[in-house]
Amino acid sequence: MSAQTTAQLHHGAVEIDEPSGTVLLRTATWCYVLRVDFDEGTVRHVHWGAPLPLADAARLPVWAEHDDSFAGRSDGVEEYPVEGGARFGVPALEVRFADGSNPVEPGVEGWRIVRESHVAILQRDRSRPLAWELHYRVQPGGDMLERWTELTHTGQAGAQALLLRRSAAAHWPLPQRADWRLSSVHGGWSAENRLERCPPAVGETTLTSRRGHTGHHAAPWVMLDAAGAAEESGEVWAMALAAGGSWRLTVQRTAAGRVGVVASEGHEGVEIALPPGGRHITPVSVAVYSPDGFGAVSRAFHTYVRRHVLPHPDELRPILYNSWEATSFEVSEENQLALARRAADLGVELFVVDDGWFGTRDDDRSGLGDWTPHPRRFPRGLRPLADEVHRLGMAFGVWVEPEMVNADSDLYRAHPDWVVHLPDRSATELRHQLVLDFSRSEVTDWAYGWLCDLIGDHDVDFLKWDFNRSFTEAGAHAGGPDARSVYVEHARGLYRLLDRLRATFPRLRVEGCAGGGGRIDLGMLGRSDQVWTSDNTDAVDRLTIQHGFGQIHPAAVMSAWVTDSPNPLTGRAVPLAFRFHSAMAGVLGLGGDLTKWSARELSEAARLVAQYKDIRPVVQHGLQYRLLAPGQGSLTAVQYASADADRVVVFVWRPTASFGPGHPPLRLRALDVRGRYRDEDTGAVWTGQTLMGYGLPVPRLPAGDCASALVRLRRVG
Ligand code: GLA
Repeated sequence: MSAQTTAQLHHGAVEIDEPSGTVLLRTATWCYVLRVDFDEGTVRHVHWGAPLPLADAARLPVWAEHDDSFAGRSDGVEEYPVEGGARFGVPALEVRFADGSNPVEPGVEGWRIVRESHVAILQRDRSRPLAWELHYRVQPGGDMLERWTELTHTGQAGAQALLLRRSAAAHWPLPQRADWRLSSVHGGWSAENRLERCPPAVGETTLTSRRGHTGHHAAPWVMLDAAGAAEESGEVWAMALAAGGSWRLTVQRTAAGRVGVVASEGHEGVEIALPPGGRHITPVSVAVYSPDGFGAVSRAFHTYVRRHVLPHPDELRPILYNSWEATSFEVSEENQLALARRAADLGVELFVVDDGWFGTRDDDRSGLGDWTPHPRRFPRGLRPLADEVHRLGMAFGVWVEPEMVNADSDLYRAHPDWVVHLPDRSATELRHQLVLDFSRSEVTDWAYGWLCDLIGDHDVDFLKWDFNRSFTEAGAHAGGPDARSVYVEHARGLYRLLDRLRATFPRLRVEGCAGGGGRIDLGMLGRSDQVWTSDNTDAVDRLTIQHGFGQIHPAAVMSAWVTDSPNPLTGRAVPLAFRFHSAMAGVLGLGGDLTKWSARELSEAARLVAQYKDIRPVVQHGLQYRLLAPGQGSLTAVQYASADADRVVVFVWRPTASFGPGHPPLRLRALDVRGRYRDEDTGAVWTGQTLMGYGLPVPRLPAGDCASALVRLRRVG
């Protein structure tokens, strides 16, 4: 209950007009307005978009559907619609009470300033033992609105549990506009992040994962624009959910024209039991509005992820070498040492031994779960390799897949009951492996134990943390009422383990991976330093994957390797420079068989590694502008600019050569209009005004397919 007495209150980004029950959150770009109605027990949305004065916001009407006996009373505009009453839209809150009934009847108790720029609104069922708090927070100086919900079973000890059938982080109502367009990504293994833009159906469009992990096939974020937005212009709203297990984003477009997004963890049928006194805190859903197009929305997300999600935002990510494409499961002390020496000569900073170093891991049929060095491949253990890698001046990393087990392993023989699969059902094996139940503390304690030994015994600096199959036949081992909660609780167990490990080893850095990009979300990024973007390392395919990835995620986490040509997956031959330029647009890594590279290739690679070190602060910590999207013309181009606009990096790629007129100049973004910029390779000097107004003349590209260039500009004088 608000204890304030004055009529208008300001708490950082939060402004409140008490008489009207209006709560407003403000950033430099937007304001978000809602109205609390104590009599009706509703919290309804008023406005999200251009900044408005509180006095005006307090007088704005709340939209209501036509009042007939078939209409929903507040459909589309409630901040947290429940199942119950005259509500026929997508609920944010669906409950099964102890008596088996569902309807929730909400009341509003008031608001609470949790701290500066953070307000919570308390709602409570009028007669059943359930209360929920809607949290709204703006990070200092930020442009994103974070929302989540905390639900409490308010019954006495001894009362029965209730089941949360859907407990969303948020419903995000959007303003009234004539038309709408939905942007999202879809894909599959080695084909992640294909960006699609289409009108949302009048009805419900659900993006979801039923896999127990975020998934390659969809990602938990959407953008909505009023059908007229472009890369750098037009109104765009975007929201993401920080959920690493199953999830659901439902875009609802009502016949009356209201559009909103309900963002929740868990797919349909996943229920979470809440015992008396129990509290359930949803993952965070974070959103932004910009009047300046998709690019501005992406940059707002990039800045937010870098400042508020990543554990070490200010660090530069090292250039890594990974053995997977060079030696596959055939790793040995000798071949890793040979690769490590070559990598060190090229300027690589971190050497990572991928799969195959442990147990009886000769292929993917056995060994997962037995995390001791493979006796034939590493007869002296990993220590000599780790020491030599460190002596060569590189950090040492290893691949692990702690959440998985092969049936052919000592671990499975000892603990067949540790898997998520149900004892009376077939345990479907995918990649010959089963999933360990990380919602159980004895399982995560076991993982913590061997990971501590591995890291401590070998001075491991970096883990590539993999996860190579989706859940099937997943259920709670004890057969509780929420048998399928493991689809979300597993991820929560994983987060606890990663947090614990990182606290024990503060210098440890983690690369998240799930067969490439199968678990990339803001929840996992809160415990990772970077992510393995895709198992597809074809530098041309990567441009599309990276374009979709970058809609939400910053280049500072986008791990990208230069591998051999022709590419093992696609068979495409790609020149070394193009492979490098594609990977240099993110966190550069190397992944080819360096022992087979020619002297000319090695010297070219060393030059490009050095060049990456030079531009790395701009790529990893700068602002990204997508100048030309892949597939929309002959060229693809991306610009990165340092925050002070002193340094600018432009990558240009031409995957396919064709006869035709020259390409128009590339109009750069966000430079100092009056500043003079020198091309660090050609010496040419241009003003910012010319580079933005007329454009950067397209650099001369080599003849033929897969041609690329890198332009480095520095402000002079
Ligand atoms: C997954 C990863 C690959 C590699 C293999 C090892 O597919 O995405 O990079 O680590 O597992 O088995």
